[in-house]
Amino acid sequence: MVRAYTIASGKGGTGKTTLSVNLGSMLAYFGKETYIMDADVGMANLGIVLGLENVPVTLHEVLAGNAAVSDAIYEGPFGVKVVPSGISLKGFQNANPDRLRDVMRELVGRCDFLIIDAPAGISRDGVIPLAIADEVILVVNPELSSIVDALKTKILTELVGGHVSGAILNRATMENTEVSREKMEKVLGVKVIGIVPEDANVRRSSAHKTPIVVKYPNSDASRAIKGIAAQIAGTEYKDEGSVEAAREGFLDRLARSLFRSSK
Ligand SMILES: Nc1ncnc2c1ncn2[C@@H]1O[C@H](COP(=O)(O)OP(=O)(O)O)[C@@H](O)[C@H]1O
Ligand SMILES: [Mg+2]
Repeated sequence: MVRAYTIASGKGGTGKTTLSVNLGSMLAYFGKETYIMDADVGMANLGIVLGLENVPVTLHEVLAGNAAVSDAIYEGPFGVKVVPSGISLKGFQNANPDRLRDVMRELVGRCDFLIIDAPAGISRDGVIPLAIADEVILVVNPELSSIVDALKTKILTELVGGHVSGAILNRATMENTEVSREKMEKVLGVKVIGIVPEDANVRRSSAHKTPIVVKYPNSDASRAIKGIAAQIAGTEYKDEGSVEAAREGFLDRLARSLFRSSK
């Protein structure tokens, strides 16, 4: 079943792009045909974190009516497909957000999962992904202000006919006891589908323009993200450490079963 998820939050900097890139990469790793689209057309940085900032055609040109969607699709980690937005102001000015709907429709037709990295705030290009996605996932930091912003985003989503299916608590720390999972679920009225810890490896991996699940697959944040991606994919995931270890585990099992059947 095709599923379009919009990764949203009230304000910027909560971790939407980080989670879009890493969840998308892991869904691809789990064998799902996955597209990540940068709907943050004004402050695009999905392409930057994946080293795609100099590509010739972006979502900007598609939204301006000057290119086909298929020309703006690039290959990312584990074979995930990426539709980045451009970083030029001129490209942004020419982009017509009303075309987002058609782009999303076309992409959804191609894949198992479409992950949409939404802009913060309540701009037109921000509201469309909230309205059209099958499910909106809120990214919340463990601070009251972030929760209030997320609540506003949830209300806005419902106002425009969208559906919030859950929240991810990102940048959680042991010290930060201000907001517990239960409190968050109560205030937001949605399930917390995962908690991703504050992890310095997130910044380290983005300096390498590589998702943390690829660069530091054993890190705390990666393990949390892998668990959330497995939930979304409907795949069983055992925390076996790194992606490589998980792959070896699978190959070992495969080798054993082949060995047995040849006997
Ligand atoms: N779990 C985390 N631990 C540490 N830093 C994080 C974490 N998640 C995100 N960050 C950092 O926070 C900043 C904002 O994240 P980003 O994904 O760009 O947010 P948004 O897309 O919501 O604006 C980035 O510098 C990113 O590296
Ligand atoms: Mg972002």
